[in-house]
Amino acid sequence: MGLRTGRIISVKAHWNSLTICYILIFFDDKEKQRVTYRKDLIITIDGPSGAGKSTIAKMLSQKLGYTFIDTGAMYRGVAYAYQKRKNNETMEELLKNISIRFEFSGETKVFLDSIDVSKEIRAPEISLLASSSSQQKIVREHLYKVQREIGKDGGVVLEGRDTGSVVFPNAHLKFYLDAHSEERAKRRHLELSAKGNAEALAKVKEEMIQRDKNDSERDIAPLVMPEGAIHIDTTGINAAGVLSILLKHITTKGVK
Ligand code: DC
Repeated sequence: MGLRTGRIISVKAHWNSLTICYILIFFDDKEKQRVTYRKDLIITIDGPSGAGKSTIAKMLSQKLGYTFIDTGAMYRGVAYAYQKRKNNETMEELLKNISIRFEFSGETKVFLDSIDVSKEIRAPEISLLASSSSQQKIVREHLYKVQREIGKDGGVVLEGRDTGSVVFPNAHLKFYLDAHSEERAKRRHLELSAKGNAEALAKVKEEMIQRDKNDSERDIAPLVMPEGAIHIDTTGINAAGVLSILLKHITTKGVK
């Protein structure tokens, strides 16, 4: 807390003296440091599963008043639709015929035939299915169009595996979050348990490693650290700590 004199509130003139009254304003140092961020940035956050991307992207978008785009939820939505239809359609036919809609207010929501399937897409079997169906060019191109359309005017935080390398390679700020695999598995395990998908930690870790391998070794848009990205190892740092690191980069890059 600091103290400083503020504006003159009254001036009294007497025949032999002049009394000037000041109002004293107490001010909070935090208030003084309040930063106004630009409203039009494109910010990407990529990395393997369990690195904390979703949590951080959500917190960052709330802090900046930006739209949060969880691209993983979009791949999960397509994988879920594919599993649901099971009527020998090719992926091309499926993408032409399905009615899939995404909503980006807060959490990314997925609607299939107008039904909210945002919870169902989080099931562990959909994680693996999304990891394999996302290897198809036709799926990626379909979703790129949507992602680029929403993000093109800025004011967005995109989170995924290729948002800074392929979707918006010229984004204003690109982050790559990573963490030690033990910690990533523990985080995924907690996240899944909280959503009612209880699985043993060892199984979660095994599936996570398999998915990381698929996502990094695929031919098309593999998980890589995008050129010019800021690498942050989140091992042992809580979400608030990671968020403050990102915000520091956002201000020091001169984008406030
Ligand atoms: O982030 P997530 O776990 O919800 O993503 C599910 C899968 O979707 C992931 O294993 C790979 C795929 N994915 C992708 O290929 N590209 C992205 N930008 C986001 C996700």
